[in-house]
Amino acid sequence: MKRLIVANWKMNGSIQLVQELKSTSLSANVIVCPPACYLPLINSFVISPGAQNCSQLSKGAFTGEISAAQLKELGCKYVIVGHSERRNLFNETDALINQKASAAIQAGLIPIICVGETYEERNENRFKQVLLSQIDQVVHTLDIQKYIIAYEPIWSIGTGLIPTNENIKEVLDIIRQRIGLSARIIYGGSVTDKNALSLAEISNLDGVLVGGASLNIHAFQTIINAFQGDLA
Ligand code: PGA
Repeated sequence: MKRLIVANWKMNGSIQLVQELKSTSLSANVIVCPPACYLPLINSFVISPGAQNCSQLSKGAFTGEISAAQLKELGCKYVIVGHSERRNLFNETDALINQKASAAIQAGLIPIICVGETYEERNENRFKQVLLSQIDQVVHTLDIQKYIIAYEPIWSIGTGLIPTNENIKEVLDIIRQRIGLSARIIYGGSVTDKNALSLAEISNLDGVLVGGASLNIHAFQTIINAFQGDLA
């Protein structure tokens, strides 16, 4: 299977960036997750649009929320759930993330479920139990074929710090031992055009989730090339 490259624009970007994105080579394995308001502008040329969040609820009086079915109607194929910014800034719990992932699957979307440890948890060597607890609580009701896990150490997001390839490989193995060898797992956290080739060497890594560097179209194209091997 081809590896996935996921762009997470977070609350960044503009109509201008949407225009610039048209110059990149966007196969079905390149998933672009802009703020939801730009989704109608990208789905004519992005084969695999994604959202950054969805409601766990299907419809009703929930001002400001967007349902998974509505995202699907807009052409989305994927949705990120449980990003650490949503966990930390918007108090999302593992139980809620499980509900959001279920709602996404029910609507025909593929949830990209984020898990990751803090700097402290890594330093105190508690990362394994933290990750497994998140995994256990979020995916226990879900079919392994229907979701993707994104391992995103919190200390690595937006910091320029990145685990060694051995550290990442260890986590991939820990997660697969727990939920199954067929689990699809990508890595996120300070992925750039500079470190993409090295990350691509991790043989059992299914791709990357790219935040800041996805806002620079040239850097993003370089990352796509590193993981998909088709140098443009
Ligand atoms: P970053 O963000 O690439 O800017 O570190 C990754 C993410 O939070 O998904």
